[in-house]
Amino acid sequence: MMSNQDTIKVIAEKVRQKLDGEGSGHDWWHIYRVWKMAQHIGKEENTDMFVVELTALLHDIADWKFHNGDDTVGPKVASKILSEHGVPENIIVHVCEIISTMAFKGAGVKSEVRTLEGKVVQDADRLDAVGAIGVARTFAYGGHKGREIYNPEQKPVMHQTKEAYIKGEGPTINHFYEKLLLLKDRMNTETAKRLAEGRHQFMKEYLDRFFQEWEGNI
Ligand code: ADP
Ligand code: NI
Repeated sequence: MMSNQDTIKVIAEKVRQKLDGEGSGHDWWHIYRVWKMAQHIGKEENTDMFVVELTALLHDIADWKFHNGDDTVGPKVASKILSEHGVPENIIVHVCEIISTMAFKGAGVKSEVRTLEGKVVQDADRLDAVGAIGVARTFAYGGHKGREIYNPEQKPVMHQTKEAYIKGEGPTINHFYEKLLLLKDRMNTETAKRLAEGRHQFMKEYLDRFFQEWEGNI
């Protein structure tokens, strides 16, 4: 029998091999940061850290956005990896439930996770979407998709369905209004709320400078 720590190590290595070098901001180092942040937040809460760590490692293994909006692929791939490594069925079910419910799917779409473990990983993932890293990832994603940086003639859209959200092709700056600036008020845990505050302020300052530079004011 492998210890939980060994299982985590082996799965981390597998995820690293699969996501190394990915170019849309969902690469191994995103997973690494979410994993470390989930450990940090999880320690402040009374959580099952095995579930938290496995979910953090596997949450983007097959992202729905890259599978035509099919949100069943991610849990399926995760489930296969977990059973290949002898993880007990009840833990697999829990991890997969979190993976299928945690993603952001539009400003007007609910994405509530049921368990504390899910709330911890969702917070960790969302913290990596905001702040300085959030800015970098967002432009990386926009470039990956061939989007414009900004176009003042295209206004942000508050998507009310996941279908509308995934179809959105607006300029990258719009994503700040369609998602990133909304995350601060959607954090679950106190630790994440605190961290989100500083990252939110930084993004606001960034956007303020962006629009001033756009008009040649500074
Ligand atoms: P989450 O992991 O928060 O459920 P995603 O995987 O959709 O959400 O998003 C992770 C990051 O990918 C976003 O925070 C952003 O940096 C980038 N991203 C996703 N969709 C877009 C988009 N339409 N435009 C620009 N960046 C995006
Ligand atoms: Ni993620």
